Amino acid sequence: MKWEQLWLNYQLNLDYCDQGYFNFVYQRSQGERIDNAVKELTKAAKEMFGTSLMVRSNLQEIEDIEDIEDIEDIEDIEDIENLEEMEKIGGIDEQGIVLQLKEAATLGEEGYQVQFEGNKLILTACEQKGLLYGVFHIIRQAKQGKPLRELPSINIPNNKYRMLNHWDDFEGKIERGYSGRSFFFNNREILINERTLDYARLLASMGINQISINNVNVREGASELITKKYFSEVKVLAELLEGYGVKLFLSVNFASPMVIGGLDSADPLEERVIAWWQEKVKEVVENVPNFGGFLVKADSEGWPGPFAYHRNHAQGANLLADALAPYGGVVIWRCFVYNCQQDWRDTTTDRAKAAYDNFAPLDGQFAPNVILQVKNGPVDFQVREPVSPLFGQMKQTNQILEVQIAQEYTGQQVDCCYLVPMWKEVLDFRTYCGEKEDTAADTVTDIVADTVADIVAGRTFGHVACGMAAVTNTGDDSNWTGHDLAAANLYGFGRLAWDTSLSAEAIAREWIAMTYNLNKEFEDTMVEILMGSWPTYEKYTSPLGIGWMVNASHHYGPNVEAYEYDVWGTYHRANHRAIGVDRTSTGTGMTEQYFGPNAQRYDHIDTCPEELLLFFHRVDYTHRLRRGVTLLQHIYDTHFEGVEEVEEMIRKWNTMKEAICPVVHERVLERFYRQLENSKNWRDVINTYFYRKTLQPDEKGRHIYE
Ligand code: GCU
Repeated sequence: MKWEQLWLNYQLNLDYCDQGYFNFVYQRSQGERIDNAVKELTKAAKEMFGTSLMVRSNLQEIEDIEDIEDIEDIEDIEDIENLEEMEKIGGIDEQGIVLQLKEAATLGEEGYQVQFEGNKLILTACEQKGLLYGVFHIIRQAKQGKPLRELPSINIPNNKYRMLNHWDDFEGKIERGYSGRSFFFNNREILINERTLDYARLLASMGINQISINNVNVREGASELITKKYFSEVKVLAELLEGYGVKLFLSVNFASPMVIGGLDSADPLEERVIAWWQEKVKEVVENVPNFGGFLVKADSEGWPGPFAYHRNHAQGANLLADALAPYGGVVIWRCFVYNCQQDWRDTTTDRAKAAYDNFAPLDGQFAPNVILQVKNGPVDFQVREPVSPLFGQMKQTNQILEVQIAQEYTGQQVDCCYLVPMWKEVLDFRTYCGEKEDTAADTVTDIVADTVADIVAGRTFGHVACGMAAVTNTGDDSNWTGHDLAAANLYGFGRLAWDTSLSAEAIAREWIAMTYNLNKEFEDTMVEILMGSWPTYEKYTSPLGIGWMVNASHHYGPNVEAYEYDVWGTYHRANHRAIGVDRTSTGTGMTEQYFGPNAQRYDHIDTCPEELLLFFHRVDYTHRLRRGVTLLQHIYDTHFEGVEEVEEMIRKWNTMKEAICPVVHERVLERFYRQLENSKNWRDVINTYFYRKTLQPDEKGRHIYE
């Protein structure tokens, strides 16, 4: 099957003001990633401007070129040793781009600098990766029709780890995958082909620098990925990815010593288990030199972990970390640990408290090459959750924020749901972890940057191994993401992980400009569709942060009580009078896991943000919300509005029929119609459920089924 190129699909644009720079590239430094950067420039020059990019990489060739003239404004170049060389390059008539590596501590491993000298754009980085990212940024600028002189002169990523987690199973299915099958695995074989290469290009172009290729639930023999049976393919794949600056990670089973090692224990403190992991890691690294490390889901949803041996998660994670440390590898250890065998009758156990309870007390005990990966919310990727209270609590522990691009609970790539605004809210959330009570003066002073973005970027506690990860939404569908508009989430995650200050709207605009060729009016229309889609989805699904109410196991479509009497710890406890879970200091006490200002805000019904009301409080249907309506009426209103908003999205999409390629327009329209059906189904199931509980009709007289 042929696949599409997403935002790397260039169109001819002969009106672009700076196309001259795409005439000529001088490659002052050599290396595989720089060669790949040049290939990208060559492709873009050809497809956008019909130009054959002239590539030079040695001075002799340049001296052969006629018309070398000295240019005068070269003094700005700091490196005097290179002046002569630069003069020669500058003297070449063609406008062009110079790629050079140079020591510059401020640029770090991945940053780059853009300068203009005469008719040349000089792109400088300390490492090859920086040049690759810089080149993709130049192309991005050109593709959007923006002048190259508007590029920021220095660009350094906010996050060191910008990672995608594939939940691809070894047989080829994808857990929570809604875009076809895996392009990494089929029938327990690793696939490496032209598509893999295009994927690596897409990753680099959006700034992703790490991927784990197999499901965190390591099933179907995927434990064998760290055995000699697969080393040669893993090595080839790792090298291919490395060419685009991407490190390969593997998810491993904590019980590997038993599953593939023939031991009868995986106890992290047992000598033979320790020796097994050390030997295993040595073998992996000897065979796959570019290997990044392990991603681990332990003691979670039935998967093995240190609890079986009465050990804690620091002991478990350090076992693997110690084995990886000599080779510079890391362990990314997930904090999604909770009791999934709860009795619904038990109102004292609160799943939302579990990550904090399991990990916060262990701060300071993790090895320096362990990174804890924390889901954005305390439960599980619902359409609305508070931020996990674990952020800011682990002052001595590296942390990665985990979000889900795959729309498991947000429409499964049938419904349109642009998630960047949600992630922005999470990143901008102030934890107050740096706030210090000055008891003498009885005042509170901010001492550090304390948003989630600050914490995972390492600004708050000075961590160096941290960042953002996302469960990806890709598969082998021709458009990669099932729903064409879901590619905005993939692209948006990469761009946001690189620069957390970008706004959700700016990212949407950029993605649209990169993917489609729309005039301003249609671009605005598409921005409206995307920016409105998460609030709309939230309106017609479960209300005010209560979550769930989905069909069990596959998680699509409404089913209010599917999880109510089950073991998963996700209950709304609705009766005829009230709904919600009391997580306040007089309830399960979860609000107390937050730092002062947030704890207080969430603890009181009057100050709790209304979108989280039912997450933190048990509330009567007659309770009046701030806009004056009762909770019940709010539920009815939002569910009617949600459907109307989907109808409006479809109307807007149809106005763009002439502007979007017919195949894509039709593909998206077909999904919108399915979304409309879904939204109606949600509206009617939810409204009827609450009507039956309360026997109170809609104040506006709209139809609610008996
Ligand atoms: C959710 C999801 C699972 C997944 C799990 C995880 O519970 O439904 O499919 O395995 O998250 O994050 O590990």
